[in-house]
This record gives sequence, C-alpha cells and structure tokens, in this order.
Amino acid sequence: MALDRIPLSEPHLGGNARRYLDECVATNFVSSVGPFVERFEREFAAYVGSKHAVACSSGTAALHVALHVLGVEAGDEVWVQTLTFIASANPILYLGATPVLVDSERRTWNADPGLMAEEIRRRVAVGARLPRVIELVHVLGQPADLGELVPLCAEHGIALLEDAAEALGATVGTNARHVGTIGRVGCFSFNGNKIITSGGGGMIVTDDDALARRAKHLTTQARLPGLAYRHDEVGYNYRLTNTAAALGVAQLERLDEFLQAKQSIAARYDSAFASVENLTPPPRVLWSHATYWLYSVLFDSTQRRDAVLQSLLENGIDARPLWTPLHLMAPYRTAPRLGTGAVAETLAERGLSLPSSVGLPAEQQQRVIDVVLAGASR
Ligand SMILES: Cc1ncc(COP(=O)(O)O)c(C=O)c1O
Repeated sequence: MALDRIPLSEPHLGGNARRYLDECVATNFVSSVGPFVERFEREFAAYVGSKHAVACSSGTAALHVALHVLGVEAGDEVWVQTLTFIASANPILYLGATPVLVDSERRTWNADPGLMAEEIRRRVAVGARLPRVIELVHVLGQPADLGELVPLCAEHGIALLEDAAEALGATVGTNARHVGTIGRVGCFSFNGNKIITSGGGGMIVTDDDALARRAKHLTTQARLPGLAYRHDEVGYNYRLTNTAAALGVAQLERLDEFLQAKQSIAARYDSAFASVENLTPPPRVLWSHATYWLYSVLFDSTQRRDAVLQSLLENGIDARPLWTPLHLMAPYRTAPRLGTGAVAETLAERGLSLPSSVGLPAEQQQRVIDVVLAGASR
C-alpha cells in the first residue's frame, strides 16, 4: 500500500473558516469591501500588541509598502540578511534602493548584529552615509538578535523594519514581546505555508499613527475620500479581500493552538535527534521564544544533508534545503555585502527543513524521524 505523501507545511483550516467564508458569500462581500478586513486588522494588532495593523495582499506587498513609508528611495541603502527567502529583498529593488547583504550568525541563523553594529560605528566615525533602513528577518520562526541594534539605530536615525513573515507568535525577552513590534514597522505573511493563512495575504504593524495611515493609503491606490477618484500620489492595489480576511480571522482564532502544536512537533524531533552526532538541532536562544515554524536541522556535511534529503523525497516526504543565499543569485550577485557570506553559505549547504505542518500526525512524524535517523547514521 502506498504511504501518504507528507507535505512540508500545509494549511490547517477548520474552526470558523467555513462559517466566515459562507458569511462573505451570503452578504456578497467577497472583494475589497466588507467587515472582515477591519476585524482582521484589529484582532491581529491586539494579538501581537501593536497599535495599528494594515492588511495587504501579500507579505511581499507589506514589505514594499513598509519600505516606502519608511522613506526608502532610489540610492538609499537597506541592509538585509543574505540568507532569507528572496521576497525579503526584492521590494528594496522595486524602490530602486541598494540592498546590502549581511552574513548570518550561527547562534540564531539570522543576520549577524555584530557585523552591522561595527559597520555603523565605522561609518559614523568617518562621517559616511548610513543605511535608511535595517531590515531584520526572523527566519524559520527564530527571532533575530535586535538587542544592540535597537538603541544604535535610534541614536543614528536608522529605521528598523522587521520581516516577521515566518515568525508570527515568536517573542523575545521576559515580557514576551512579539517579533514585528520591536522595530518601527513589522511585516507578516499569510501565505499558504505560514503558521496561519488567509490563502494569501500580509500585514504591516506599527505603533506610529502617521506611518499606519500612509501605509493604508498606499495599499488602496492612494485614493482620497469622495467619489471623484482623486489620488494624491502613486499608490498600489495591495488590499486584502474580505474573503481572505475572513479566513485570516478564523485562523487567528486558532493561533495559540497552532503554536502549541509546533512546539510539540519540535519537542518530538528534538528528543529523537538528541543523540545523533552529525546533526545539529535548530537554534536554542535563551532570550527568545521561537515558534519552529519550519523545524530545520544542520548536518555535518552537504553530502549527508543531500543523501537524507534524497531518501526523504524517495519516501514521499517533502523536505527542503534552506534558501540559496541572495549573494549567489543573479539579481543580487553584484550587491554590496557586509561580511563574507561564509556563515550563510554553510547554513545553506547543510541545512534541511523537515515537515512541520500544524496537523502533522505523530505516526507521519515518526516516518520522517526514521528516514532521517537511517540517513544520518550512514
Ligand atoms: C522571510 C519572508 N519574507 C517575505 C515573504 C513574502 O511573503 P508572501 O509570500 O506573503 O508575499 C516570505 C514568504 O513567503 C518570507 O518567508
């Protein structure tokens, strides 16, 4: 009998999803007008502890608008880590700005804060131009280290933007502050593979009234109130539909339960792999509470990683290497860099993300564990 395919990260619907979607159909509010958009924004802002939330058609759109409202223009620098999904960086190029690609640190697998702090201090000392924005990504549900950067950016007028697309629910510090709410602006994604999905969608959060107002304006074609179709700048059609927001609201209601499921999945992987010498589990960082959105491990060599990946795929199990670092791909090959990129390259060459769906049954997870253990010991 053929075994079921095990996906990497699939949506987990249920709850009020069907009821809210039925409500959209019954009321005919299926497009950009309807009560769920405002409700999703309000409930999302309350969940993460932000003053404002602005819904967008995708996480990429959210980042594009966030960079725009933070004043990024052609010729400005935006620092972003080289090891991330390409959507973190593309909006920088949409605006004609220059992405500066930052190497990773091994502790969190996110951008190396020491490299950035050192470069800021060096530039300040010689009076060189500073980046307009530092965009910190929290990859795979693990918070980046913002500790040193928050005061340094404040002191030198650099805006901190958080790409929290993969890290909804992750927190830092003893007061459990949500990622996305630490910088001036934070962005999230509700793509189908994320911890909650609206089919496709994104959210911008900020405590800044003016930035939130402008972000909303830009996502709605920069249209002014009234019937005359007047617009005061070039905006975007980046609104979230009422149907997508309805799904988002239903998913948000279940987020705590989903976060708990991810912790259980991570704990089972942790204990199964604890004594495997040539496999390192995901980062464990005392000051942060990660979500393990995608539970990812590091092998001691690329050959071993590739062999395990191959046998997982042959057994109908979806697993993925980490992303190719941006500096190795055509659109970013000539971008300036901070650091050599060697840490990011090692993580990319040896990292493997394992099935982590919220609804992953224990017996399917055991299949994944058995294949990884067999491959890792070879
Ligand atoms: C780190 C990161 N940034 C941005 C995005 C873009 O989000 P979206 O796919 O909703 O446009 C994603 C995911 O897709 C992501 O993983």
